[in-house]
Amino acid sequence: MGSAGRKSFIERLKTALLLGMGGRSRRRKYREKGRTEFDILRAHDFLRSVLQHSHDMIFVTDVHGFLVSFNKGGEQALGYTQEEIVGRLLKEFAQDSQELLRLLEDSRTQSSAVGMDFSFLHKEGYPVYFNLSLIDLKNADGKSIGTVGICHDITRWKKLEENLIRVDRLAEMGRIAAGVAHELNNPLAVISEAAGWGAVVAKDAKGLGNEDREELEKVFNDVIEQTRRCRSRTKQVLGFARDSEPTKKEIDIHELLKETVAFLSPELKYKQIDILYQFAEGQLILKSDPKQLEQVFVNLLTNAIYAIKEKGEGKGQITLHTSASDTDAEIRVSDTGTGMNEEVRAKIFDLFFTTKPTGKGTGLGLPICHNIVKKLGGEMTCDSRLGEGTTFTIRIPLA
Ligand SMILES: Nc1ncnc2c1ncn2[C@@H]1O[C@H](COP(=O)(O)OP(=O)(O)OP(=O)(O)O)[C@@H](O)[C@H]1O
Ligand SMILES: [Mg+2]
Repeated sequence: MGSAGRKSFIERLKTALLLGMGGRSRRRKYREKGRTEFDILRAHDFLRSVLQHSHDMIFVTDVHGFLVSFNKGGEQALGYTQEEIVGRLLKEFAQDSQELLRLLEDSRTQSSAVGMDFSFLHKEGYPVYFNLSLIDLKNADGKSIGTVGICHDITRWKKLEENLIRVDRLAEMGRIAAGVAHELNNPLAVISEAAGWGAVVAKDAKGLGNEDREELEKVFNDVIEQTRRCRSRTKQVLGFARDSEPTKKEIDIHELLKETVAFLSPELKYKQIDILYQFAEGQLILKSDPKQLEQVFVNLLTNAIYAIKEKGEGKGQITLHTSASDTDAEIRVSDTGTGMNEEVRAKIFDLFFTTKPTGKGTGLGLPICHNIVKKLGGEMTCDSRLGEGTTFTIRIPLA
């Protein structure tokens, strides 16, 4: 509604409410103009019905701020029934009661309605955002007798706005991370080459005892392994930052899962974590993007390893379960780690949500996984029990 439209609507509303609140002088005026009382009452009922059923929240308070009327739109928006709310002070429902009192004061000194963003609290405690217009009601002597509030629910827009801010933050972070990843990739390649060459030299070196040779070879292999890990992480970041379109290739999911486990095997061994394979028989062939799926499995396994370590039992188990229907492949990754409570579980796919201490987690792993699985046409869900463990289920179309 444009401001002119809104204004005339508000004028009509004032008239209707004054009639409803016993504005005798107005009734007389109408009669004088030749309107029958029947017409007026009909118009009044009609307007009252419109107000009652409006999707906007509309309330009326007396001059002290006590609610005298509250429509169905309000019941829906705030979760209270009329009986629960009428007779109580409006400010009890405001997220910022001081701000509301200031706005009410403004509406009395300014002739026009005050329109601004304001949040009231839902019965369950969370804020509901509105665009709020307050109209001061005056009697025939020009004395304030109450306030009418028209509140248009803008929670959806607020959420969109918050998401946009987050996406913006992510894009910025993506740019920074991509820059760092790019810078790291070249030295990592050099380190990897040098370590490979070092291992060859150590193998052939004369004058080295067997023990020393083995020790040196192990050190170089560790460097190669860890560099490979770092390069894979930098590639993940670059892939996400570029948001590359998935490629489609025939892959055996069982093979890919085993490769991912092999990639993380030093960490699994160190933390005494057993991998239990519960694979569907034979191969499980998918037409999908192996690199992106590998990222998903690495992220899920890394989280599982962390959760098992956090539980502090000194050892644990990760189960990899696969099955296939006519259309989809299903992969389940279950761990015997800490598990999560419902509050945490509800937020795990939110960007930057992490319960890990600074430096240990960025809260990007699962949103990246979720994004990849969605791009591959699949879906990803999570079941978790605090103290018992967590299962992530991924379903991906076979073709
Ligand atoms: N297997 C799991 N067991 C228990 N909690 C988990 C598990 N996987 C994820 N979580 C919870 O979900 C949160 C978000 O996970 P996510 O992978 O997105 O970020 P992160 O692991 O905290 O950081 P990052 O992956 O960016 O290093 C974790 O901080 C943790 O609280
Ligand atoms: Mg993670």
